[in-house]
Amino acid sequence: MAVDLLLGLQWGDEGKGKIVDVLTKNYDIIARFQGGPNAGHTLEFDGIKHVLHTIPSGIFHKNALNIVGNGVVIDPVIFKKELDNLEQFKIDIKSKLVISRKAHLILPTHRLLDAASEAAKGKAKIGSTLKGIGPTYMDKTGRNGMRIGDLELDNWEKKYRALANKHEAMIAFYNVDIQYDLKELEDEFMKAVKALKQLTFIDSEEYLYQAQKAGKKILAEGAQGSLLDVDFGTYPFVTSSNTTAAGACTGLGVSPGQIGRVFGIFKAYATRVGSGPFPTELFDEDGATMGRVGNEFGATTGRPRRCGWIDLVALKYAVQINGVTDLMMMKADVLSGFKNIKICTAYTYKGETISHLPYNIESENVTPIYTEMKGWAKDLTKMSSEEELPENLMDYIKFLEAELEVPIKIVSVGPDRTQTIHR
Ligand code: GDP
Ligand code: IMO
Ligand code: MG
Repeated sequence: MAVDLLLGLQWGDEGKGKIVDVLTKNYDIIARFQGGPNAGHTLEFDGIKHVLHTIPSGIFHKNALNIVGNGVVIDPVIFKKELDNLEQFKIDIKSKLVISRKAHLILPTHRLLDAASEAAKGKAKIGSTLKGIGPTYMDKTGRNGMRIGDLELDNWEKKYRALANKHEAMIAFYNVDIQYDLKELEDEFMKAVKALKQLTFIDSEEYLYQAQKAGKKILAEGAQGSLLDVDFGTYPFVTSSNTTAAGACTGLGVSPGQIGRVFGIFKAYATRVGSGPFPTELFDEDGATMGRVGNEFGATTGRPRRCGWIDLVALKYAVQINGVTDLMMMKADVLSGFKNIKICTAYTYKGETISHLPYNIESENVTPIYTEMKGWAKDLTKMSSEEELPENLMDYIKFLEAELEVPIKIVSVGPDRTQTIHR
């Protein structure tokens, strides 16, 4: 049985959490493959809104097993908070949530290093979520990291101490004003590790191999988006993992040949949180309207998200890099009421018109070229079938499908699980 992938095609926050929740009924296993608590995946049903950071978005379904894969970085403190939030929902966590032994641990000092690094960058800062993501992946690739499996060893605290001491020296080296009480942070960390150790740690690549052989259906859940990928995103304003399809292979240990459908999610417009280039960003009333109607505030940090028109140059690039087979368009309802809708189909770059993503997309290098389409006024949020969708929205959908050469299989018209139109 193949492993299907679900990933964001823009700068994150496309609505991955909602769609994983919608699709979970078709799967036996939901497996997160990269990122960590920098992610904030929102699910809404029965009038309740849930935000997950590390725990896969299939957790509310009785029949699915949720795996935190080896490519994920885990902060026990945030993980414990997520578990505490779930307690009231009477989920049998012990049987429904397992963690890869090869997933790396975010130490309190990783978070401090993240803060020190950003402070030292000043105006050039990445706009990190400050969850310790960069420093933890640096320790992973630098071969200094601590893994979940280490917590099963008798001497893990010794290993912890050596790494934390090294981090303290590195923080001092940055020579920035970072105030912290490490003792307090470590007390919280040790308590959280205890809670984490109540869960089952597994060799997830072996588990997934056997599950596939047994015919289980597996959905891999991505975090962030393709334009935040460490290789293919708007470097250096990216996260520190491969958010694209290849990341699922390394982040779960599944081979490329085992990948089935690749579900690519995008918003009907575009948003970005943190620093970095965003060619179609709006600084006018239209952008403010998208932010207000779309409630565009980060699910992890609460920061306002920057908003702009859809960028097909960037979206095509993401479709290409990921080999997307099915598209899902989110937040179509947010565009209701715009008289005209703009679609960026090409850039002017060094005096020429180009339709591929160049090395550098800073605003001084690229100017978006737009096609305009007529908007629609109707409220979409109560619609439940394609037949009800306004004609101008259908024209928009068909235009995007023709440009991207991939069918749009889901149109989302509101945050709730039920506000989902399958085509
Ligand atoms: P993720 O990180 O990709 O899971 O996305 P986030 O949860 O960070 O951000 C998506 C936001 O949009 C959340 O607040 C969702 O509840 C909300 N959302 C998802 N789909 C829709 C939709 O179709 N319409 C509207 N209005 N909101 C949506
Ligand atoms: P989900 O999974 C949107 C952004 C940060 C920052 C950059 C680097 O909810 O879509 P990091 O903390 O990784 O060092 O931050 O990446 N970023 C996200 N933006 N959604 C996310 O996750 C993000 N995770 C990180 O804002 O610009
Ligand atoms: Mg998010």
